[in-house]
Amino acid sequence: MASLIGAPTSRVDGRAKVTGEATYAAEFNAPGGLYGAVVTSPIARGRIERIDANLALGVEDVFDVLTHQNRPPMADADAAYADDIAPPGSPFRPFYNDRILFSGQPVALVLARDWETARFAASQVRIDYRKEPHATDLLRQRNEAFTLSGDAFAMSMAKPRGDAAQALARSPVRREGDYFIPVEHHNPMELFASTVIHEDDGKLVVHDKTQGVQNVQRYLCNVFRLKPEELRVVSPFVGGAFGLGLRPQYQVALAVLAALAVKRSVRVVLTRQQMFALSFRPATVETVALGAAVDGALQAVTHRALAMTSQYESFARNDSTWSGALYKCDNASYAHRLARLDLPTPCDMRAPGAATGVYALECAMDELAVALKLDPLELRYRAYSDLDQNEGIPFTSKALRDCYRQGAEAFGWARRNPEPRSMRDDGELIGWGMATGIWEALQMKFSVRIALSADGKAEVACATSDIGTGTYTIMSQAAAEMLGLPLENVTIKLGDSTLPQAPVEGGSWTAASVVDAIAHAADALKSDLMELARRAPGSNFAELKPEEVSLADGRIVSKRDASLSARITDVMARTGVERIERERATEIKRDDKHARNTHSAVFAEVRVDDQLGVIRVTRVVSAIAAGRILNPKTARSQILGGVVWGIGMALHEETLIDHNFGRFMNANIAEYHMPTNADVGDIEVIFVDERDELINPFGVKGLGEIGIVGVAAAIANAVYHATGKRVRDLPITLDKLN
Ligand code: MOS
Repeated sequence: MASLIGAPTSRVDGRAKVTGEATYAAEFNAPGGLYGAVVTSPIARGRIERIDANLALGVEDVFDVLTHQNRPPMADADAAYADDIAPPGSPFRPFYNDRILFSGQPVALVLARDWETARFAASQVRIDYRKEPHATDLLRQRNEAFTLSGDAFAMSMAKPRGDAAQALARSPVRREGDYFIPVEHHNPMELFASTVIHEDDGKLVVHDKTQGVQNVQRYLCNVFRLKPEELRVVSPFVGGAFGLGLRPQYQVALAVLAALAVKRSVRVVLTRQQMFALSFRPATVETVALGAAVDGALQAVTHRALAMTSQYESFARNDSTWSGALYKCDNASYAHRLARLDLPTPCDMRAPGAATGVYALECAMDELAVALKLDPLELRYRAYSDLDQNEGIPFTSKALRDCYRQGAEAFGWARRNPEPRSMRDDGELIGWGMATGIWEALQMKFSVRIALSADGKAEVACATSDIGTGTYTIMSQAAAEMLGLPLENVTIKLGDSTLPQAPVEGGSWTAASVVDAIAHAADALKSDLMELARRAPGSNFAELKPEEVSLADGRIVSKRDASLSARITDVMARTGVERIERERATEIKRDDKHARNTHSAVFAEVRVDDQLGVIRVTRVVSAIAAGRILNPKTARSQILGGVVWGIGMALHEETLIDHNFGRFMNANIAEYHMPTNADVGDIEVIFVDERDELINPFGVKGLGEIGIVGVAAAIANAVYHATGKRVRDLPITLDKLN
């Protein structure tokens, strides 16, 4: 049987998705249910003084208007609101009291028999506010910024080494710059929505758009003081999330609150505009300084990040320490400061910290290469490190050299004329830029239950989510291969809080974790099948141990003598066993002696209209080292998505704040620019061969987030090469080229 792991398998859920059979959170039927429309605060900070819901309540078919004044009881302690990945602080509590913490905060929920009525009536709720002065400008608050200490983030920051300030001062060649990344919003295609089914016995089934059903379940049970058996969270399909679905969002709290208040089913769907007040990638100023010897040897790296957080939580991610980890350098120092603003707490967005921090590092490396008159790729080779420089330890594997070589070869990098503005075609300037990417290769504990039935079919169950990444598919491939069954005999059940334990789907850790758990469950089933085979009348398996057999082609087969085999279905039938079931968890090997990372080399070509400054990304080659690739087809899609997002980050995406109102101005996908098909040229994805025998038994590292890291830098560097103009503030729009 050909190996299923590693085969470019089409999505097993693809048909359900394109035919509309796949049901999303807002699409579950709620017979007799009500529709909730959210009213949000137009002020950024202050208090609600008075709510007049009479007009709204007078609208025909309006059922109720819920606010902090008439809601059912909610928990009073911060701990109840702190979900699995809440940052330090006091989590936002929707409808808790009269305090306004950000513009767009939900303040009332209008319940009506249909969505249109609910929305209209929401416009009729009159609310008086007492405004307080707000601050929403990161740059104006930078002197008020603080450094976290004592919390998990501060503890996880890499330690400085050497004396970076002194080494920098002594370096013959130095480059220092402030790189700015604006607020960016996730904008998944599916709107954030929750449908709560109020069952006859009072139990709630919550269909939610989330990256972690069990995280949402725990949160809701804590906030509303429910028992886990009273509230189940279901989310079989997720139309993109990218980090915005990691924490429970307020619409799910409001939908449950309403269902408890009116004892009926309730659906709450946010508008695109309202989603801009959920969360976002924080704007950051990344101050990077590099010092080098004249031969290009790095002597000092300093990276200081300034990021934004809310008034009530301290969200921080590692932006800075990649800079000292990636390249050989004896002196490095880092800082991460946060400024409090009257905005919602920022959150993870694809490759949080790295997408932004590595952008700055890789542009600074390009600037250094220019100063040194060195090819930017050659500078990376000279600074190459086989150790994680922060920890001084080797990697479980690091095929970044192969990424550089294969990426450069496919791109044609050797034909690059280093002189800016030197490459032209048909009145357009051509620019070639490159950058390195790095991300973590993590594993978390997942539990998987496999049930094998006498008809030779297997059901694989885990509470994880498939947020569009292909989890259904790789779980099917892994289980089918390990059980020796055809792909179509395997069914995957996920996205349900009643299934075996899983953390949120994030950090690119799901594939490596869930496949390991599947392997252990399949191993346990193999032992069970061996037991049955021995017991089966006329068995000749008595002498064999489980490790001496494998499961393949629907059979138990002796590894030594392939003629010694039995059909799994026969074994179960002959012993009268209908179903065997095993649950096993990921076994994570603790190993402090090796760093675990994925890497990439990104090469980009831009064409710039010399007169108008219009920039087009015509080609990108992304060479990825991410261990064993479970499915080159879905993996390639992940990297394509990351590259497209990198194009958006480089050239298009920016959420603008009107500081007068303290409000996002372009809170819609007409004015929040994202790449369309016409903005995306050729993308070539290369997976370099990276065998990793240390990281986990299958050598899987996970990918997804690595796809965006380095892309914006490669494009920014290409724009410099095309135009001779260095733009450090993203996005690089044509006005900045003049
Ligand atoms: Mo990802 S930003 O960990 O969903």
